[in-house]
Amino acid sequence: MTPRKVSKAIFPVAGLGTRFLPATKSVPKEIMTLIDRPLIQYAIDEAREAGIEEFIFVTSRGKGALEDYFDEAPVLEANLKSKGKTDLLKILESTNMDSGAIAYVRQTRALGLGHAVACARRLIGDEPFAVILPDDVIQGDPGCLKQMVDAYQETGGNMVASMEVPDEATPSYGIIDVKEDMGNMVSVASMVEKPKAGTAPSNLAVIGRYILSPNVLKSLDGQTTGAGGEIQLTDAIAEQILLHDDVYGFRFSGQRYDCGSKAGFLQATVAFGLERPELRDELRAFLEDVVSVRGAAE
Ligand code: G1P
Repeated sequence: MTPRKVSKAIFPVAGLGTRFLPATKSVPKEIMTLIDRPLIQYAIDEAREAGIEEFIFVTSRGKGALEDYFDEAPVLEANLKSKGKTDLLKILESTNMDSGAIAYVRQTRALGLGHAVACARRLIGDEPFAVILPDDVIQGDPGCLKQMVDAYQETGGNMVASMEVPDEATPSYGIIDVKEDMGNMVSVASMVEKPKAGTAPSNLAVIGRYILSPNVLKSLDGQTTGAGGEIQLTDAIAEQILLHDDVYGFRFSGQRYDCGSKAGFLQATVAFGLERPELRDELRAFLEDVVSVRGAAE
């Protein structure tokens, strides 16, 4: 049986973004920009490329700027039109979402990623769905979710993006206990969220892209708190294995940036800047200068 089409995606965006204070005091983290596009736009573009048609945002208090961002901006658009700025109007087009294609659900209490995903359960119903964590920005061609959707057509079940991380980083991730390694795909024996240092079953970490069966939502309903006292998505996915549904780890091709951290955000800014033809030369010259001046000083 061919798996059903994945047409809905959940974007958990309720976090307070405390690592980016004071900026996030008034600006949602997902609106912070990599070059000239907010983080969330990268996630939306990746989802669209993968065939997603319905976008579900799990938000919280103070995220109004996100809703405005995806709305039409009649005054701005009229202004650009009257000045004949068709190139800028075109840029705005990618930010407009059709009415009905986007839905917002509030997570009223910060009880963890698993709880955030469960908040969207009524909008998902009984079909497979994707989850995208916008903090994980992935530069790939095709995009990571598209790669996963294609692979999922063969496997069905549940699929998480994954990549190898250094030993010392394992306590920051969901970690996969590998049953069988098939190269760019592994079958998962179990998963553990944020294992204590030295106890991780492997170095294969879960990265923020998931394709999940609706059974995960049922498991989330019965989920007690896990790592960090939060309801963990990882635990509900691991439960699917006990319920005899397959879970796969997918080693995507592409570069992932942890834009939930300042260092990762800076690295992504530089990497995306170097990709832009209009910025590339100036940025490269600047970076070479900085590095050589530092090198000479040391
Ligand atoms: C979340 C997930 C974790 C995953 C990580 C990837 O953790 O709970 O399993 O490895 O995203 O970025 P967070 O970074 O939100 O603590």
